[in-house]
Amino acid sequence: MALLKIVNYPAPVLLEVGKPVVDFNEDLKLLVENMFETMYQAKGIGLAAPQVDKSKRLFVMDCSGGEDETQKIAMINPEIIYVEGSQEGEEGCLSFPGIYAPIQRNLRAIVRAQDVSGNWFELDGAELTARCILHETDHCNGIVFLDRMTILKREMAKRKIKKLQKTGEWN
Ligand code: NI
Repeated sequence: MALLKIVNYPAPVLLEVGKPVVDFNEDLKLLVENMFETMYQAKGIGLAAPQVDKSKRLFVMDCSGGEDETQKIAMINPEIIYVEGSQEGEEGCLSFPGIYAPIQRNLRAIVRAQDVSGNWFELDGAELTARCILHETDHCNGIVFLDRMTILKREMAKRKIKKLQKTGEWN
């Protein structure tokens, strides 16, 4: 296994719609394993392929932060099939280190996806799980959490990023 480099906004790959995964082969299994390792090492609860410079529709998540094996889930070709309710909460993103902002999300989301063997399954998530599913599926569609901020918070985040870029603290 290997750690992958996480790309920061505004890397173009983060703003592209990912390509569907068609080959459920050993390369895919290795990518997923490396993404889990990279996510745990970075102390994140979700990581999408575009964040490791792969324009593909897949992500890994674990809202338990490695505490509960049943929450370690890879989703390939995810599609949101149902949402309801709303929640507001603080969000971050591994491609925006040090940036946090309140983001409005649905309270519940049902996602349909394939596992690493290509088998379709559904996951019905609420609260943090729903937030994570929606944030990571957004990444697969070229949408970043900056796009989901209020205009005021987005301008504040952009100014902070610009400052960090100038001082070389943002790669
Ligand atoms: Ni993210």
